[in-house]
Amino acid sequence: MSHRRRGNSTIQQLEDATVHGWYRFVLSYPDHLVSELIDKFDVRRKHTVLDPFVGTGTTLVECKKSGINSVGIDANPVTAFASKVKTTWDIDLTEFDRRRHELLESIQEPIRSIGTQYPFQLSFDDLLPHGKVLLEQSVDDYESLKLLLPKNWLSEMPLRKTLIVKRAIDELPDDAITDIFRLALSAVVVADVSNLGFGPEVYVAKRREDADVYGAYAEKLRRIRQDLATIQQIPNPGTTTVYYGDARRLTTLVEGPIDYVITSPPYPNEKDYTRITRLELILLGFITEKSDLRQVKKEMLRSHTRNIYVADNDSVHVADVPEIQEIAQEIERRRIERGATSGFERLYHRVATEYFGGMYRVLEQLQQVMPPGGKLALVVGDQMSYFRVPIHTARLLSLIACRMLHYTEVETIVWRARRATATRMDIEEHILILERQ
Ligand SMILES: C[S@@+](CC[C@H](N)C(=O)[O-])C[C@H]1O[C@@H](n2cnc3c(N)ncnc32)[C@H](O)[C@@H]1O
Repeated sequence: MSHRRRGNSTIQQLEDATVHGWYRFVLSYPDHLVSELIDKFDVRRKHTVLDPFVGTGTTLVECKKSGINSVGIDANPVTAFASKVKTTWDIDLTEFDRRRHELLESIQEPIRSIGTQYPFQLSFDDLLPHGKVLLEQSVDDYESLKLLLPKNWLSEMPLRKTLIVKRAIDELPDDAITDIFRLALSAVVVADVSNLGFGPEVYVAKRREDADVYGAYAEKLRRIRQDLATIQQIPNPGTTTVYYGDARRLTTLVEGPIDYVITSPPYPNEKDYTRITRLELILLGFITEKSDLRQVKKEMLRSHTRNIYVADNDSVHVADVPEIQEIAQEIERRRIERGATSGFERLYHRVATEYFGGMYRVLEQLQQVMPPGGKLALVVGDQMSYFRVPIHTARLLSLIACRMLHYTEVETIVWRARRATATRMDIEEHILILERQ
């Protein structure tokens, strides 16, 4: 696919504005992929693009830059929030600057002097919003906090400094500028302050006993300010709407008509999206206790065993699809053959049927909001995470869409291939292009 060219230097500068960098996660797809698909579909200003798995808003930001209206949905409140912030561009820059300077000034000295108070009793309560006292405990109590903030994710000193910034932000008026400050803090804490590495799972990399929270945060806000000044020059940017919700019930949120869908849904690969964003879920106050986390997971597609629940029954939608049933049976056969009996291994086969059943529901809902001729680009990867049974995600989604619903397959493009660590085999990722009939 050719790269989108808008051909004049101001526009080129706008194109390079890295709003995308305000907040990313390990599962974001590259922005050029979206701009290439916008070109390929010849999406025009009068059209509306939907990304039902919007993640960090890559699709929406690219559409907005090109003057195209777009809608995003995500079941993770962190990524829905990030998408919302990244597509709110009508910010009063004078007020932004005033508040930014005041905020930075108010945190500078407390952060600088904190080293002198060390060692201190560490309290987590300020991580949480509005008086919830669940985590009002000392660092010794880490064990009981594991579910919310897993052990060693943030060292004492960096956490303490983070709390100074968070507290100062919480004092500010609750509006779009403050939301930028919140998102920026989350991004900085994950990238520059925490002990986390991503590759692609989240893990504790090297421990940072200290971190330049002030410096990293000030720099982040400076860059965002620079981007805002640039993107505000874009004439007639597209309008954007972001919903926090479940794509399997998208017609309760979106009326349509939706002309194009550009998206990368989860696929059955054992990645727990709530774990990848756990730190942000806590920092932004979206989860305050274990049951909140479960609630978030329940709104998500069943793409891993940590969010399969007894009452799940999306699988009923693919009960008559032999190709999917055979995969589930083969996974279970290999489990029994290996004598694998852990709780998670017993659930492996259910991921396959629950996942594709969930995707059936999404495709069925999309069918209701898309007129005939509307096109979808689904970026998904093949998988072998379950006892190495191959799951050809794009092929199976195409089969569901074309056999059970009113779509035709236009083409499947091999987007990239990556080497699977366990099997040392190349596993392909595809862009599946469908058309609504
Ligand atoms: C592969 S990521 C999308 C990444 C996105 N393209 C980007 O550039 O950031 C898939 C997203 O689907 C979301 N998701 C999972 N189940 C969902 C559901 N039932 N409804 C809406 N979003 C869901 C996850 O929270 C995650 O953000």
